[in-house]
Amino acid sequence: MTAGGAPAMGAAAVTAQAAVPTWERLVLASGLPRLEARVLLAHASGRRREWLLAHGDEPADARAAAAFTGLAQRRRHGEPIAYLTGVREFFGRDFEVSPAVLIPRPETELLVQATLERAPRDAHVLDLGTGSGTIAISLACERSDLRVLGTDAAPQALAMAGRNARRLAGDALESGRMRLRAGHWWQAPETHERFDAVVSNPPYVPTGDPHLAQGDLRFEPPQALAADADGLAALREIVAGAGARLQPGGWLLLEHGHDQGAAVCTLLADAGFAAILTLADAAGLPRVTLGRRPE
Ligand SMILES: C[S@@+](CC[C@H](N)C(=O)[O-])C[C@H]1O[C@@H](n2cnc3c(N)ncnc32)[C@H](O)[C@@H]1O
Repeated sequence: MTAGGAPAMGAAAVTAQAAVPTWERLVLASGLPRLEARVLLAHASGRRREWLLAHGDEPADARAAAAFTGLAQRRRHGEPIAYLTGVREFFGRDFEVSPAVLIPRPETELLVQATLERAPRDAHVLDLGTGSGTIAISLACERSDLRVLGTDAAPQALAMAGRNARRLAGDALESGRMRLRAGHWWQAPETHERFDAVVSNPPYVPTGDPHLAQGDLRFEPPQALAADADGLAALREIVAGAGARLQPGGWLLLEHGHDQGAAVCTLLADAGFAAILTLADAAGLPRVTLGRRPE
């Protein structure tokens, strides 16, 4: 020991240094699938995954190793990777996410694509239940002619959408081409507003579905996932109000569960929609149903 009580440089310090594992050893010892471990290690260290692979046999940075060990433990307890890293990629952009919002799903990109293909030039588009803002922001970024309103009943979700919008679509937000508003489904847009397209990925999991108690879903906000015993409550409410808020010829595009396509087609047909069509996701499952308000 030195006079001040600090350990003298010597054998002890050298041993401590030698104990720092290599980057690759951290990955292997984590007990996680390698890809997951590397994503978390990249997040903890601020290094790119490619760098970690190329330098795998070098001693890890001690602070990154400690941060990674904590993240790996949370992952082993089931926390979704996106909540641990605070980011999820959607339609080619990185969105900030937290347990206050649904983790964006790749299936929802189909909804964005279908809207981009149908929204007429200079369309006014409404995204009901915007969550982290993925759909609304992707639409505003992909097509500079669109005016987009994103709404949500959850203030924390709307705050997250605002952060993502400022980062990814700051100009659109500043110019008013993109807006965010709080409120229950049809109460959020102003009563006089009419839209050329209304898009929504609402909660559609039946409240008794055992999947809600499994995997990532355990950590996601229940109000973003579940809607009533058959999962159709939100979809019914959105379809019921859409006719009055769509321009003649306007589109309603809805994501739903893989086994809800027929039910959503019936809802749209009963509400007077035409050109009703269900689209399959990349797994071949019915995922998006759309219809058009007659001219
Ligand atoms: C399945 S998440 C979709 C989030 C985002 N659009 C996406 O695709 O990742 C459904 C969203 O609807 C919102 N929501 C639930 N009930 C609502 C209501 N009554 N009115 C408005 N938004 C609601 C939730 O807060 C949640 O953000």
